[in-house]
Amino acid sequence: MRGLLTLRDLSTPEIMDIIELAIRFKKGWTVNFPGKKMVNLFYENSTRTQYSFQIAMINLGITPLSVNLATSSVQKGETLYDTVRTFESLGVDGVVIRHTQDEYYRELEGIKVPIFNGGDGKSDYPTQTLLDLMTIYEEFGRFEGLKIALVGDIAHSRVAHGNAEVMRRLGMKVYCSGPEEFADKDTAEYIDIETAVKTCDIINLLRVQFERHQEAMKMTKEEYHQNYGMTSERVAQMKNRAIIMHPAPINRGIEIASEVAECEKSRIYRQSENGVYVRMAVITLALQGKL
Ligand code: CP
Repeated sequence: MRGLLTLRDLSTPEIMDIIELAIRFKKGWTVNFPGKKMVNLFYENSTRTQYSFQIAMINLGITPLSVNLATSSVQKGETLYDTVRTFESLGVDGVVIRHTQDEYYRELEGIKVPIFNGGDGKSDYPTQTLLDLMTIYEEFGRFEGLKIALVGDIAHSRVAHGNAEVMRRLGMKVYCSGPEEFADKDTAEYIDIETAVKTCDIINLLRVQFERHQEAMKMTKEEYHQNYGMTSERVAQMKNRAIIMHPAPINRGIEIASEVAECEKSRIYRQSENGVYVRMAVITLALQGKL
């Protein structure tokens, strides 16, 4: 299948090519695809992914179509395959999909237009990983030897699952931290939060994914913040050049104190900005037949 479903399909040089192209776009390089049309299909809510893909399309001269699934024939029971196949027959040149189901794209065998995975269940989220990598590369100019702690709701996080594998492949030391109830021992080695903030180059906070929990969180939101949240006190413990990242949306007062969200170490809005350039890069490569 064409497009970008998971970074596990790409080699390290291919990942670096996407990051380098995204950086070129950020520096002002442009390319145009007049007459092309792409569609966004979001079966889960989204602000950043949905609209940064849309802005990326507009920047590339592509006409974006955003489908309101609540008023579409999905409500009559139309399957994902039939919905995508319909847009393909209508003449779109690419489809962005976010879906609740892990690896939903396995149902799309036979679809010929490029598919861009905007997040599949708890499994993967390749453009988020790419924009995280671009943000780290801009900051440090390398990946090799950097230490990152993924902090929080690891078990329900497609960001954690996607980032850990690729970051390790790029030579980073990846740790997980946070409450036992959200731990996922297969993702990375555990580190306690106080050691993580003192020793890591990047603290990658993760949103508590309340909408995916089968049972209520065992602690209160205040207890989570006190025990695992990024407070001003923890920021003061970080290394000089260390940075804070979060895929957002952020739960202020839970994963992160409100006053820390835009502190000098925070790169949260830089990540959102870089999302546009990374999505321009993957769309460009796909429309050039390279993805
Ligand atoms: N980071 C992210 O996926 O944000 P949205 O859910 O708003 O797209």
